[in-house]
Formats: sequence, C-alpha cells, structure tokens
Amino acid sequence: MNKKDIIILGIETSCDDTSAGIVINGNDVMSNATFSQIKIHEKYGGVVPEIASRSHIDKISFVIDEALYLAKIGFDEVDAISVTTTPGLIGSLLVGISYARGIAFALNKPIIEVNHLEAHICANYIANCNFKPPFICLLVSGGNTNIFLVMDYLNFELLGSTRDDAAGEAYDKVARVLGFGYPGGQYIDENAQLGDKSLVKFPRAYLEENSLDFSFSGLKSSVLNYINKNNSQNIDFRVEDVCASFQESVVEVLVNKTIKACEMHNISKVAIAGGVSSNSGLRKSMKEACEQKGFELNIPDPKYCTDNGAMVGASGYFRYMESIGMEVEINKKA
Ligand code: KG4
Repeated sequence: MNKKDIIILGIETSCDDTSAGIVINGNDVMSNATFSQIKIHEKYGGVVPEIASRSHIDKISFVIDEALYLAKIGFDEVDAISVTTTPGLIGSLLVGISYARGIAFALNKPIIEVNHLEAHICANYIANCNFKPPFICLLVSGGNTNIFLVMDYLNFELLGSTRDDAAGEAYDKVARVLGFGYPGGQYIDENAQLGDKSLVKFPRAYLEENSLDFSFSGLKSSVLNYINKNNSQNIDFRVEDVCASFQESVVEVLVNKTIKACEMHNISKVAIAGGVSSNSGLRKSMKEACEQKGFELNIPDPKYCTDNGAMVGASGYFRYMESIGMEVEINKKA
C-alpha cells in the first residue's frame, strides 16, 4: 500500500443483503463481507421490507467487523465511510445510513453518500485497472433495468429504463410459476442451459424505433399464459425449453439495445452490472455481439454483480476524491 492510498469502507443495506467492503483507490478490494437474507425471505417468495430492515439491524455490526478483520485493518486506517443512500427499501437504507453516520461521527471521518445504481456500475472497475470511462453500461437487477452512458467516474447519463417490470422481476415471476425457489434467476439460467431456445417464440418488446427503453411485462404474461394453458389442458412441456425460450427473448433485447446505445453514442466500450449480469446466456451473447462489432466488453466477477459493500466502497472513492478536490488514481495492482 502506498502512503497516499485511500481506503474506503463501503456499506450496503438497500435491499436484502447486509454487506461491507474495504476498497483501496476505487478498485482494489481488501475485503467484502456479506450476510444474505435469501433464506429468510425465501418462504414468502420475495423480500418482506419490515423483516429485511430488522435483519439488517441484527447483522450490520458483525458484517462491518468481519470486513475489517478480513482486511486486517482497524477503523483508524479507514479514510472515509461510504454508504448507499438511494434507491432502495427505505427501512433497509435507513439502517445502513444511521450506522454509517454513527461510525463517521464517533471516528470523526467523512461520510460519503452513494447511489446504488452508480455503485453497481463501479463494480466494473474492481480488479480491472484498465477499464475506464467512457462506456455504455447495461444495468440489470431485481429492481432496475437501465442503459447508462458513463461519461466519467462521476457522470452518468440515463439513456433508457424499463417502463414496467425489471428483467430480474420477470425472471423471479416466471421462476415462481415454474415452482423454483426465490430469487429464481439462477434456476432459470441453469435450466435454460439444458433447453431448446427455439421451442417457443416469446415476444420481444423493442418499443419505438431507436428507443432504449425496455418492457418485460408482456413477455412475462406470455410465458405465464403458455405455462397455465398447457397445464390446464394437460399438455406436457419441458421446463428447460420454456426457460431457454424465455431467456433467449430477454437476452436478445438486452444485448441488441446495448449495442444500439453504443452505435447511437459512438462508443465502443460496454460494461454490464447488477444481479442479472451473472446470467450465463447474457454474458455469452453480449460477448459474441461485442466481438462481432469489435467492441471492448467488461464483465464483473459474479460476486460483485449482486449487492455488495465493495462496489459501494469503489463508488465512494470517486465521490470522496471529488469532495476533497483530488484527482482519481486507480490502483495499478488491481
Ligand atoms: O442486483 P441484485 O442482487 O439485487 C437488486 O439490486 O435488485 O439482483 C437480484 C436479481 C434477482 O431478480 C435474481 O433473480 C437475479 O438478480 N439473478 C439472475 C441470475 N442471478 C441472479 N437472473 C438471471 N440469471 C442469473 N444467473
């Protein structure tokens, strides 16, 4: 570690993961500790906000202690505390914000507010010092489906978003009807790999010409109707084929709109982020499309695709440097 290295503690509690990460210079992760609430919410088939907030209260101090322990540092070595402040479940966000404020006050350290979507995008800098803005980022998670033009480390232009369901929501709903656990994205992904994607031609919503917005509710209804109709008429179908056909429809639109955004803005660098960016079909298709166009593609490690404290630490670094008027210095080791 160099003398002027900046160490940020990032805290994430926007939904159902209590997570803390310690990051040097925006991309070098010293530690990332997470308590996932999936087991708690599984039986309800989705996140219960009140239960989520209570679980964050239970776990937050353990998770932060674990992050410091794994990084082998004490609070005194942290330069600033960054915390997700929006968007997210209000009760869950409040736990992280209150805890971060408490530590910052007690230690007399700066507190940096971080936008959850920006943090997901910043996961792309982790462990890759060569990936730099400007680029187009497809952000796909349980709550968001967006295309951003990332102009620099601090400036993000929203080019398109979903007009109804997020991609992850559609995955989770289809998974529920097929009898998979929650969250269902990974189960659909696993089954899709064993299925025939040409079995059913589910709809693709491209919307108006040149629109970079998304819509997944029509596709979701179409898949649910297909399943219900076949079940009610006792017609056999392979679940794997439905998963593969559904996934093909989602991925095709996500990839084509991302490539279109690059062409419209004359950008040849692409990144993906958010929980759904772990999807094997999306990773493969985006790689093929970028290779075909000669675009550079960056994909974060799956552990930094879902909600995590390290991405908040990465994003917090850029905001911290801005607040003290210093130039960003990405760590060359990472
Ligand atoms: O980013 P994330 O952890 O939480 C939000 O901020 O929303 O994303 C969670 C979403 C869930 O909808 C989950 O089903 C989906 O990511 N997901 C996947 C995969 N792994 C997680 N969707 C498709 N394929 C996957 N492999």
